[in-house]
Amino acid sequence: MRWHPATVLYWMAIGLVTTAFMLALLGEETPSTYARDAALRSHEWLGLLALLVFVAALIARWLGKLPFLHPMPEWLSSLRASTKAVLYVLLILQPLSGWLLASHEGKLTSFFGWKLPPLAAPDSTLADYGYLYHGLGGVLILLIAALAFRLNISARIFDIVGRIRSRNNARDS
Ligand code: HEM
Repeated sequence: MRWHPATVLYWMAIGLVTTAFMLALLGEETPSTYARDAALRSHEWLGLLALLVFVAALIARWLGKLPFLHPMPEWLSSLRASTKAVLYVLLILQPLSGWLLASHEGKLTSFFGWKLPPLAAPDSTLADYGYLYHGLGGVLILLIAALAFRLNISARIFDIVGRIRSRNNARDS
């Protein structure tokens, strides 16, 4: 199976988001203030890194063609496309809503030595939206990424069967 750089970067971004999610939960359960702050800083850092990696995935995808997959049922193809589209939007919204939440709570971290500026005033409606959406968005990403992974496995199975069939047809003709 060949992996396109865009696919590798895309799943790396999802892995980083999942780790950021775990750190958020871990931080909330930690009694020590020092450990909680360290978990939050790493959480924010990984979330921003996920955004960068995801943008790199989009650029890699734009620059190179994805490998050909053998035809699969129409329902699978449409479900994969819509799941991916939703996931793309959520992967952009998640770090931005976190940034808004951090602006709301005054908990902005630094990223590669760059101190994050607030994205909105702490008492603005935009910051409130970030605050309301952020926790829910993390859960949505995990659920939809799990579905996307499952659909990918089905697509790969159709691809492998298609390749075997084409090879057999070529040998028989
Ligand atoms: C992209 C992956 C991210 C995921 C999956 C994620 C997920 C979460 C979750 C599940 C929580 C707990 C929410 C709750 O208690 O209702 C949380 C809290 C938080 N997140 Fe994120 N987040 C991400 C990125 C970010 C980024 C990039 C920032 C800031 C730059 C950020 C800032 C925060 C802040 C400030 C909190 C509140 C922590 C506290 O006060 O205890 N997050 N995040």
